Amino acid sequence: MTNRDSAIGLFDSGIGGLTVLHKMIEMLPSENTVYLGDTARAPYGTKSVETVVRYSFENTEFLIEKGVKLVVVACNTSTALALEAMREKLTIPLIGVIEPGVRRALQVTMNSRVGVIGTEATIQSGAYTRALKAGAPNTEVYSRACPLFVPLVEEGWTDNGVAATTVEAYLGSLKQSGIDTLILGCTHYPLLKKTIRKFMGNAVQLVDSAEEIAKEVGVVLKKGSLTRKGVKGNHSFFVTDAPDRFIKVGRRFLGEKVESAVRIER
Ligand code: DGL
Repeated sequence: MTNRDSAIGLFDSGIGGLTVLHKMIEMLPSENTVYLGDTARAPYGTKSVETVVRYSFENTEFLIEKGVKLVVVACNTSTALALEAMREKLTIPLIGVIEPGVRRALQVTMNSRVGVIGTEATIQSGAYTRALKAGAPNTEVYSRACPLFVPLVEEGWTDNGVAATTVEAYLGSLKQSGIDTLILGCTHYPLLKKTIRKFMGNAVQLVDSAEEIAKEVGVVLKKGSLTRKGVKGNHSFFVTDAPDRFIKVGRRFLGEKVESAVRIER
């Protein structure tokens, strides 16, 4: 049985979901969290639907075994490919990253031209286009897969010449399309925000769904009378590959909170 003190579970293929966790700790500081980075099997963005669905179920089951009260699918690829199937089979509240980002984009766009960037699997799934059109049928959606962004972020190359050239190569045509809003449809991409902003210019609003997700988590917890109050929460981390790199990169996002990460076998 879960209660207020039970943790919130989050998973991603690797470190990207830490951008979501970062925002959640800021907005819901009393909550305990358990984060799983499936680092041994990342990236998800180039894998088939069946594989991403299987991995997503396994990650969620791991978090459920840890006694979490809610699971945040902090990976756009998993959300795009597996969230529906998981919602059909599992009873635990599941929050994905696509709906909150789409909601925010539709609030901020003034000209109804919205760009979406993500992994190959996310863009190919058409999940963003469907969600944007469902929210506002007149939206013109311009999407682009940016497969090299994830390895750049994993390498920590977010603010150098290689990052700038890669951003320019992927986003050149989006810049010409007249979009006024760009959804960063991969939880790794907020780390490239500065470089993306520099290239796209200040007239294009960048939507990073982390804040919207944290808000939604807050609402779902409140509805279920599951909000934890008072003292600061504890944060634990699990990975499926050697933890050293995860800790190193994780510290860049979360500082000392990522003291250690436990390796689990898959
Ligand atoms: N963080 C994942 C996402 O949001 C992408 C990384 C990967 O390809 O595994 O889609």
